[in-house]
Amino acid sequence: MYKLTRGVLVSVEGIDGSGKSTLTRTLAERLSQSLPTLLTKEPGDTPLGQQIRTLVQEKKVAICPKAEYLLFAADRAQHFDQVIIPALKKNILVISDRLADSSLAYQGFGRGLDCTMINTINTWAMNERYPDVTLYIKVSPDVAYERIIKRQEALTSFEQEKKTFMLNVLKGFESIFKERSNVLYISGEQNPEDVLQDAHTQLIQWLITHYFLSTL
Ligand SMILES: Nc1ncnc2c1ncn2[C@@H]1O[C@H](COP(=O)(O)OP(=O)(O)O)[C@@H](O)[C@H]1O
Ligand SMILES: [Mg+2]
Repeated sequence: MYKLTRGVLVSVEGIDGSGKSTLTRTLAERLSQSLPTLLTKEPGDTPLGQQIRTLVQEKKVAICPKAEYLLFAADRAQHFDQVIIPALKKNILVISDRLADSSLAYQGFGRGLDCTMINTINTWAMNERYPDVTLYIKVSPDVAYERIIKRQEALTSFEQEKKTFMLNVLKGFESIFKERSNVLYISGEQNPEDVLQDAHTQLIQWLITHYFLSTL
């Protein structure tokens, strides 16, 4: 049996339909059997964030790319202030379904906004508390698109974008993550049970190696 030595922030990233919400739900459930675990998401994990989520996903009014990014940044600031930082102070393992890297990939690489500016504002919004480790679920845009259509839920504004947009987002994730040493790659094209097993094994190993977990 293991215990956490301190709070740990885990982000789960990937394109729409890659299986983030499915994995974060099952992974948080499994981890919570032995560790204090909190599942959160961006956008929309706080009362303010829920209103922002509706604004950016439904786009009932025009939102220019800079305003769109700043809405995500506002959600992020509230999320870190109200949820993430208090949980980390209590030595909880926090799993977030998307985090700052989604803004870099979608608003930076997808919409063409300046990535340096996004990085600066993200850092400020997060109080410099970057994720300790990122699980990147990799799937091809075709597989992701088929799943989104099959899911039979109303498509968000991002899911209605042209295929080239999602290809740019995918290239964005690849380019951001190849520079990092704290990214665990998960193939999202396995069945959901194997995705969970793969993510769980890699994450526990990473936490042990980096002294976030010690034996009881
Ligand atoms: N590994 C998988 N294999 C097949 N279908 C999956 C897998 N993971 C998720 N799905 C299904 O694909 C759809 C999109 O998954 P979801 O978790 O909502 O993705 P995301 O949160 O990344 O947009 C859902 O209908 C989900 O049930
Ligand atoms: Mg989701």
